[in-house]
Amino acid sequence: MQVFSEYVLKVSASLIRGLVIHLRLRDMEVLIQPTPERASELAARVVARLLKEKPNAVLGLATGRTPVQLYKELIRFHKNDGLDFSQVTTFNLDEYIGLQPDHPQSYRYFMEENFFKHINIKPENTHLPNGVAPNLREECRRYERSIREAGGIDLQVLGLGSNGHIGFNEPTGSLNSRTWIKILSQQTVKDNSDLFDNIEDVPNHCITMGVGSIMDASRCLVLAFGHRKAKAVANLIEGPITAMCPASALQMHKRTIVIVDENAAARLDYSDHYRWIDQHKLPWQRYD
Ligand code: F6R
Repeated sequence: MQVFSEYVLKVSASLIRGLVIHLRLRDMEVLIQPTPERASELAARVVARLLKEKPNAVLGLATGRTPVQLYKELIRFHKNDGLDFSQVTTFNLDEYIGLQPDHPQSYRYFMEENFFKHINIKPENTHLPNGVAPNLREECRRYERSIREAGGIDLQVLGLGSNGHIGFNEPTGSLNSRTWIKILSQQTVKDNSDLFDNIEDVPNHCITMGVGSIMDASRCLVLAFGHRKAKAVANLIEGPITAMCPASALQMHKRTIVIVDENAAARLDYSDHYRWIDQHKLPWQRYD
């Protein structure tokens, strides 16, 4: 009798676990907005809603041109509506190797200038990999550990490389990688060179969260704007899951939102479908 009730208990526990996992899974949500400005405002609403539900959320953040307007919107929400960052913790995706934190092209500098210094976040709660650590491999392990110790990332903001990279996980890299040292591809060096005086000044190495580290986030929010990203966007959403487009791993992620402007959506085969889904959402499913 006891054996039977233990069996019933075990089966029910595994059924409940299965149901919980199923309920947490969502389709990749694709939101096409008329302009990068509208897209960034919507993205800011996604972040703001999370912070209202969970004031001590852990945010994963990105640098580059794409999220600049998102940060401006969040700063506006902070200044105008009191959006509170006092309990928030952040982890950035990546940092160049060899640049001191106060170097104007370092990602630490970028984050301070474009976001952190304008909001009420505690400096000790903001984390980026240390690109000048004496032992870089130990730094990668330490970074992974700190994310785990903070309880994992609730929402990871991601830009998209024109070659389909997320973080600095370039095509052909492992889709299971953890925070590691990477060599930037020639394409990425070229794409990022307009942020430096000369292409020779772009560092070739970085520390980046791995695709596996990104996949651990409870939610991902990908932003991509402009024609330059259209092919990568199509590969991310509609292509095969392949290391040739590291972002395509997100098709396996439990809850990813992709917000793009019309130009970045230009090569999607199913754009009418995504618009249809968006138009027919129930009020509580909307962010606007
Ligand atoms: C930046 C990052 C990169 C960028 C991507 C797009 O932290 O991880 O993946 O998001 O290279 O860069 P932009 O936005 O400059 O086009």
